[in-house]
Amino acid sequence: MENKQIDQLVEAVLKSSKYRNVCEDLIRNIGTHELLKRRNLKTAIKTTKNKLHQIGGAYFLKKPQYEMWLEKLQETKKSGNEDLFRQTCAEIMSHHYSTKERLKGLDEFYSRIFSNLPPIHSIMDVACGFHPLSIPWMPLPENTKYYAYDIYKDMIDFLNRFMHISNIQGFAEVRDILQHPPKIKTDLALLLNTLPCLEQIQKAAGLKTLEALNSKFLVVSFPVKTLGGREKDMRKHYEKTFNKLTEEKNWNIQRLEFKSELVFIVTK
Ligand SMILES: C[S@@+](CC[C@H](N)C(=O)[O-])C[C@H]1O[C@@H](n2cnc3c(N)ncnc32)[C@H](O)[C@@H]1O
Repeated sequence: MENKQIDQLVEAVLKSSKYRNVCEDLIRNIGTHELLKRRNLKTAIKTTKNKLHQIGGAYFLKKPQYEMWLEKLQETKKSGNEDLFRQTCAEIMSHHYSTKERLKGLDEFYSRIFSNLPPIHSIMDVACGFHPLSIPWMPLPENTKYYAYDIYKDMIDFLNRFMHISNIQGFAEVRDILQHPPKIKTDLALLLNTLPCLEQIQKAAGLKTLEALNSKFLVVSFPVKTLGGREKDMRKHYEKTFNKLTEEKNWNIQRLEFKSELVFIVTK
């Protein structure tokens, strides 16, 4: 494969409005594999875009309105009415598939998860989507540090501004967590509905990522419905997959079931 071809592919993908905010590193990685498989530039551009859709684009239910959302967040935070602020966070989360699915049971979701963990003072949220907007529901000590990673530059910019408005310590960062897992050490790492996306980029990406993260506790979840809303025995499927993935590891694993997803709490 010529270097020129991969540069052309990256340029073409970044030109489309749907993918212009995606981290270049990831496009290059996926594009390189697609070019090696297909050798035809036009087809490789198309299949790279398809893959980006499957691992990220498909989860946006509507075009994000970041500027408008930030104004509303600022306004409701300033009002001092925490319920109103949470309502705004929930409304924003309803625009991304994974957070939307979780919305109905947020209090229960975090109280059950955190009651199974010691006090947590730092969190990394990898492939976070809009999930940091759930921080107001998490029973965390004040000054807990939060680090969030995803592949969209505009989303990450929005999350940094959200964290600033909410006085959350930490940052959000654009990162392909598969090629460059964060090196930071935290008490807890969240990988919510993430492993199936990573495994679409690379087989065996799931275990590789779990091993690479520098956290004693991991919360790993799997969706229980397809994006189209069908259940198709997904709980059974992902339970089997996760057990197989971790069978050679000497990790303590606890399983929690929610309406929105299947959760595993891993102690490394
Ligand atoms: C199914 S969504 C889950 C979002 C969030 N964790 C949640 O549960 O609400 C998958 C997320 O993974 C992100 N993603 C996919 N591949 C990634 C990668 N290689 N590095 C970082 N983020 C990635 C996507 O952009 C998307 O936001």
